[in-house]
Amino acid sequence: MKKIILDLDTGIDDALAIAYVLGSPDAELVGITGTYGNVLLEQGVRNSLALTELLGHPEVPVFRGEPHAQAAEGFRVSAATALIHGPDGVGGVELPAPRRTAEEVPAVDFIVRAAHEYGADLVLVPTGPLTNVAAALHKDPEVKDLIGRVVLMGGALTQPGNVNAWTEANIGQDPEAANEVFRSGVRATMVGLDVTHQTLLTYDETRQWRQLGTRAGEAYADMTDFYIKAYETTAPHLGGCGLHDPLAAAVALDPTLVECLPINMKVEIEGATRGRTIGDERRLNDPEKTMEVAVRVDVERFLAEFMSRIGSL
Ligand code: BDR
Ligand code: CA
Repeated sequence: MKKIILDLDTGIDDALAIAYVLGSPDAELVGITGTYGNVLLEQGVRNSLALTELLGHPEVPVFRGEPHAQAAEGFRVSAATALIHGPDGVGGVELPAPRRTAEEVPAVDFIVRAAHEYGADLVLVPTGPLTNVAAALHKDPEVKDLIGRVVLMGGALTQPGNVNAWTEANIGQDPEAANEVFRSGVRATMVGLDVTHQTLLTYDETRQWRQLGTRAGEAYADMTDFYIKAYETTAPHLGGCGLHDPLAAAVALDPTLVECLPINMKVEIEGATRGRTIGDERRLNDPEKTMEVAVRVDVERFLAEFMSRIGSL
């Protein structure tokens, strides 16, 4: 059975990724590590604690991760992000007050420990900035070869970004960390906007969760309706909200949902295109490709899996 760590900046699609993994009989969610992005670090940790309780899994440990490099100067969530996920990251939906707190162990130490404990069975699924992952690879270089794979939501190879023409939000928060992960040689799959903009959810699906008559079904429907509404304003051409983070979780469990281009990647860290994900010119001819970029997705099969796994809300 795959052991999963979700590394989350817990906004609404991160919340959907939690429900996806917890609804998967073929996966064990061994921990959630918190990062910043959709919300500040502390709020994200609080959301993860509340959501795991709402879903009936208070046993899943939640760890506090590294702050943003500019945390000391007062890092703020952008107004555009707050519009999509709400200032609290969960669209203003009231969640149960968590009855526990985050673990004492820092997220990075937990990732390192889990890499040694689970080895190749461990899949790390970051769906926020790659700050914690880069720090773990730094702290213990053995992590790179020990873990099975990193399946990350972030970047865009064949599409424009969603922050600006070049940059996707998760990568744009910490391009240096992302570049370190991309160039580290860790086995990694990039699930970027190339595929996540094809997997969309509409009110038709959230209506089904509401009909379950459960507190979790109601809360998830409310949160996701908020998210769909935000997409109606920010990206009306898509016709639904992007299932970014749950797609990364799904690919971690079943890589056959996507077709990948094997290519060693880098992240541009300077100039106007800072944050852009692109092939690494220094390693394009390397015979070994440690990274894969998802370029096609079986939309129908993913949406069916998504609805069936989330259906036990
Ligand atoms: C990514 O950015 C965040 O807003 C979402 O949660 C997702 O991880 C999409 O660019
Ligand atoms: Ca996210």
